[in-house]
Parts: sequence; C-alpha cells; structure tokens
Amino acid sequence: MNTAEFIPKIRSEKIEEIGFTWQTPSNIALVKYWGKSDPQLPKNASISFTLNNCHTITTIDFSIQESAPCADFDLFFEGKEKEEFKPKIAGFFKRVEVYCPYILDYKMVINSENSFPHSSGIASSASGLSAIAMCLMRLEQALNPRLTEVYIIKKASFLARLGSGSASRSIEGPLVVWGKHPKIAGSSDLFGVQFPYKVHPVFQNYQDAILLVDKGEKQVSSTLGHNLMHKHPFAENRFKQANENLSKMSEILQNGQLEEFIGLVESEALTLHAMMLTSAPYFILMKPNTLEIIHKIWEFRAAENSNICFTLDAGANVHVLYPFSEKEKVNRFIESELANYCQKKQYILDAVGFGAKKG
Ligand code: PMV
Repeated sequence: MNTAEFIPKIRSEKIEEIGFTWQTPSNIALVKYWGKSDPQLPKNASISFTLNNCHTITTIDFSIQESAPCADFDLFFEGKEKEEFKPKIAGFFKRVEVYCPYILDYKMVINSENSFPHSSGIASSASGLSAIAMCLMRLEQALNPRLTEVYIIKKASFLARLGSGSASRSIEGPLVVWGKHPKIAGSSDLFGVQFPYKVHPVFQNYQDAILLVDKGEKQVSSTLGHNLMHKHPFAENRFKQANENLSKMSEILQNGQLEEFIGLVESEALTLHAMMLTSAPYFILMKPNTLEIIHKIWEFRAAENSNICFTLDAGANVHVLYPFSEKEKVNRFIESELANYCQKKQYILDAVGFGAKKG
C-alpha cells in the first residue's frame, strides 16, 4: 500500500483566483462492498456500473487567502447555503488535507446540484464527493501542469474514496472495480480502476431504471451498517464470497452470459440485505413494495422470457437492470406495473455512463 505517491512533491506558484465545474455520476454495484477498515479500505473488492443520468454538478471557486489551519469553505446546494451538509464535507477536507495541502491556501465556495431529486433515497455521496475530488484535482493540475491525466484520474478516485468508499467508483465508466483482487489487473484498495478487460457488447449499453420506493431518510446509515460488519458472524465468509463473485462476474462481463449475470447480481443484492438482517443490532432497509417489485420482476422474467433483473443498494429503492434490446418492452412494464409500487409513481430511467465530465 503506497499512499506517498499522492502527496504533492512540489509547492508551486499560487494562483489568485480560479474555478472549476465538474459533473460526476452515481454508480450501482453489481458485486457489493459492505464492510471496511480504516482509513476507508474495503474488506472485499467490488464492481459497479457507472450511471449516466443520475449525477452531481459541482463548481468550486478558489480565491487565495492567508493559509488557514483547516479548510475554509462555504457550501451551497441548489442555490441555498447548507450548513447541515458542512460537517461531512469538513471531515472529508480534513482527511484529504495531507494529500492536498494547497486547499488551506484558498477560500473555497462550493456550489452543488443533483440531477435527481434530493432525498429520493438515491445516495448522493458517490456523485457528490467524486465531483469535489475532480475539482480539487483540477486545481492541483493548474498548480502543477506537469501532472498526467492518468495520475489526475487515479488521485481523484483516491480522494473520493476517502469521502465515501463507493465514490471511488464514480470517476470513470462504464465498469469500475475498487479493491485489490488477484484476477483484476491493476486493482487496488486505494482507488477504483476501469474494468481492464474487453466487455461483451450486451453490457456496453445496459439499462438501469431506479424505482423510488421510499424517499425518506434511511433509518441506518451506510457508515453504521459497514461498522456492524466488524463483529458480524458471517463477515469472513461474506468477504470471501464477494471476492469469488467478482471472479465470476469478470468472466460473465467478458462472455456476455446473461443468465449467469442475473443470478449473480440478484444474489449479491439479497446477500447485502441478508448481512443487514443478521447484524447485531439487525435492521431492515427494504419496504413491502421492494418485495412486491422483486416478485413482479420474477413473474415478468418468466412470462416474457426476459433478461430483466434487480439489484438493491443500502435502501428500499430497486434498480431494474436490462439489456438495451429490451428497453421498449421493459420500460412499458415499468410504467404500467412497477410504477404503482413507487412513491408518487416516481422512477428514473438511466443507463451505463462513462464517468466524470467537465461542466
Ligand atoms: O460508499 P458507502 O459507504 O456509501 O457504501 C456503499 C455501499 C453499497 O452501496 C451498499 C454497496 C456498494 O458497493 O456500493
């Protein structure tokens, strides 16, 4: 593990004022990360589809000031100052300070907005923190123009990870692996890497419809859930299983085996929630409509000979995954049937995407 490469070697000329805008997406894990050790290192490797439409756009304006003892910033979300979001971001800046000492020389004004409704139950930490990480790396590049694009992307993922583990998978796309794994060349616990092998065409434009089953605050945060894996009776088997599942998923993604893909993705989703059901204390994030939707998906798959399947993240919402070739048929099914189980019939049609974009 070598984090020294992420500590800037030179202290360059300061820039008076500069600003950057970056758009980074959310992602949905196919093999899940659940359980970590300090500092934000995963207990097993994971892989996700990067999304396209669900994203955060963040602008950071930097203006030079006397070096401060800790990061000095104002935070606006959808145009309004958000004091309640500040502690999380302050904690993030504290964690990255050693890797980005230059942030202490600037007053930062952060303006952020999401493409998806706030409190939709869609985790905004992955897109939100990766967008901030990209803005910091563009400042670092402005201060040191010799940095390569490869280094910038790698360090952006490294920084994003220190904010939220899954955020490390939101810089690139369409498939990103985070966590060291013997079968994934170049993989690391420190940052996400693009899935390094040729992906079968069927997975290159895969669709993801996010069904908004419950838009309320989660009763148990991801941080708490991860921590409950420390003394979890099934933890070691789960970490081993996830790494084995990633080996299988790597083959499936290269060979285009849809039946195996469906089996593995759904099993991963249910295993993630099984870990929650068997934690001490136990908790349930699924809602009755989560289960209704799962059963409807299974019925539709059998009746229509479809390749539709579901996955879940740490919440009640359902991600419906399907090949592009079934888009029309499945979208009709979602609108006519599954939307009835969503809050206010709301869902978001998305598809795999390619990561961070300049705003
Ligand atoms: O990145 P965190 O700490 O919010 O954890 C995310 C965990 C899951 O979304 C449940 C799984 C994953 O791999 O994204």
